Amino acid sequence: MSPRQPFVGGNWKMNTDRRSSVHLARAVGDGLPDDASGVQCAIFPPSIHLNAVSETLRETGGGADCVLGAQNFYPEPEGAFTGEISISQLRDLGVGAALVGHSERRHVIGEPEELIARKTTAALESGLLCVLCVGETLEQRESSKTDAVNEAQIRSALEHASASLLDGIIIAYEPVWAIGTGRTASPADAQSAHERIRALLGRMYDASVAESTRIIYGGSVKSANAAELFSQPDIDGGLIGGASLDADEFLAICSAARPRQELQGASS
Ligand code: PGA
Repeated sequence: MSPRQPFVGGNWKMNTDRRSSVHLARAVGDGLPDDASGVQCAIFPPSIHLNAVSETLRETGGGADCVLGAQNFYPEPEGAFTGEISISQLRDLGVGAALVGHSERRHVIGEPEELIARKTTAALESGLLCVLCVGETLEQRESSKTDAVNEAQIRSALEHASASLLDGIIIAYEPVWAIGTGRTASPADAQSAHERIRALLGRMYDASVAESTRIIYGGSVKSANAAELFSQPDIDGGLIGGASLDADEFLAICSAARPRQELQGASS
């Protein structure tokens, strides 16, 4: 079975203007190695800057391999959905990945589970890489509900997704209390949550899906803690918020996500 390729995504959230988004995309694209070193990198700018960022990435060296991602979309092909953006409109701009179920959309915007499931299926059916975000609140963690919350969110989001669609899924475990707070799950706690998510995929699908699905960690990842988190056996990279707004930080995090064989080589 082929090893899982590490994935590092930069979620810019509702930050940057046109000028600073182009500047940041250029710095990231120029800084990424041409061969991407076996790590798949992605950036998720605000939708309004996708076009400018897409053009900028194409002009850079390593940026040509950087996946352009969307933070949001609506799971219908076209029509009367004022204010929304379809997957084909995103594809037209060169978008290859999308976030679904991010905690800010679940808890701040109030996106319901049913919409998250529709978005997950639509993204996977369209061939987009779908970064499905799950994770518990502090209250849920303190009442030992982490695994139950992850399981419920994953079962609900993947309700209509058959195993044949799962090549395109990346699960991001992002404890809500760790997002944007400077508090990170310890590598051991994150590893334990990831291991249980992988076991869940084995129960929902089969061992091959469990083994091949990338599960990444998000929540206050920075260059200082990335290598230790990414060296855990079930952590296949990260989803980076605040630290992705600094090109040097983001590039350092990308290079901390070296492919697993190299990590094993380095430790043996
Ligand atoms: P953070 O955000 O790195 O700023 O904690 C992570 C995320 O929201 O994906």
